Amino acid sequence: MNDRGSPSGGSGYRLSTTGAYHRDDLDTLGWELTVCNSLYPVDTPIRRILKRNASYGHLLYDYLTRFMPLEKITSVLEIGGGYGYLMKDFLMRNSGLKPSMLDISPVLLQKQQETLAGHDVSYVLEDALETDPIIFGRHELAILNENLGDFPALIDIDPVILEEAPPSAGDAIRTKVHRLFTAYGLEKPGEEFNLNIGAMEMVERLCSSGIPYIFMGEHSCEARVPPMLEPYISIRSDGNPRRIPLKGHDEYTIKFSYLQRIAGYHGYKTVRGPFADYIIPLLTERLKATLATRGLYSAAEEVVYHFVGDLYEYEYLIMVKEGHGIKG
Ligand SMILES: C[S@@+](CC[C@H](N)C(=O)[O-])C[C@H]1O[C@@H](n2cnc3c(N)ncnc32)[C@H](O)[C@@H]1O
Repeated sequence: MNDRGSPSGGSGYRLSTTGAYHRDDLDTLGWELTVCNSLYPVDTPIRRILKRNASYGHLLYDYLTRFMPLEKITSVLEIGGGYGYLMKDFLMRNSGLKPSMLDISPVLLQKQQETLAGHDVSYVLEDALETDPIIFGRHELAILNENLGDFPALIDIDPVILEEAPPSAGDAIRTKVHRLFTAYGLEKPGEEFNLNIGAMEMVERLCSSGIPYIFMGEHSCEARVPPMLEPYISIRSDGNPRRIPLKGHDEYTIKFSYLQRIAGYHGYKTVRGPFADYIIPLLTERLKATLATRGLYSAAEEVVYHFVGDLYEYEYLIMVKEGHGIKG
């Protein structure tokens, strides 16, 4: 099987995975600048267009306190923590946290150890899809920031396979697709489509562990621009996970409505929205001019233009297990 996408061979889909890239080839995140990493440098021009000049982890921490008692949480699991900057911010806000960092990439896990040196943190080198859900259930909060798109995706799925009973033996993936659509009553696409099968399985595994709080954020295929920004930004939002070609691997945007449905089924209340809910841009005349000219007049403006688009194209999903209550 090709790790980036195996031919369908008549099975009615192709599989795209990134495991080998993350395990063996990845040596930097420089090629895929995440929102968290973009906001990290104190002097970045993107911080200057925000209502609050702060790094990603601080902005997220304050937002999450609306929905969960973060000050009382000690056991937090971050899956795919990249350079560790989000957790570094969280530890500045709450020194009582005992984080576990789980990552498939040895290079990034090493980087996290450097960033978080001096703190009481445990590190696990593992594919999160292979982690026993019992381990998830030992934590109070799980964070998955900008990595759902890395989990396996099925692409070019023939919708006919949703109608036909899966073969009784031999095609575990088709059986899984059938089970997901049937168990969660998911709306079936009418034409060829892509499916975030790994992200769906991840949500299912986390929710079945009973962990009280989960945060996820990623590039969405269902995001919408608010009316005031429609003249400046357009977002492709057709509900079909879109391929994003990156160095050595492909990512797929996320169909959050399916994840939300799975979480709801497992007894989680959900809150969903764009990253702009907590990374709030101030729509000044200057920013409007930058957006209207698509950042054409300087490198800094170009960065700002793309960043503001990302704030609306990336969505988050907060899941709170029933009985734990959402504050506010
Ligand atoms: C795009 S980076 C995001 C890093 C960081 N969360 C951020 O927002 O800057 C994706 C992260 O997920 C990790 N990752 C990808 N697939 C994974 C898997 N199957 N299990 C665990 N970690 C994974 C990568 O190694 C990397 O740390």
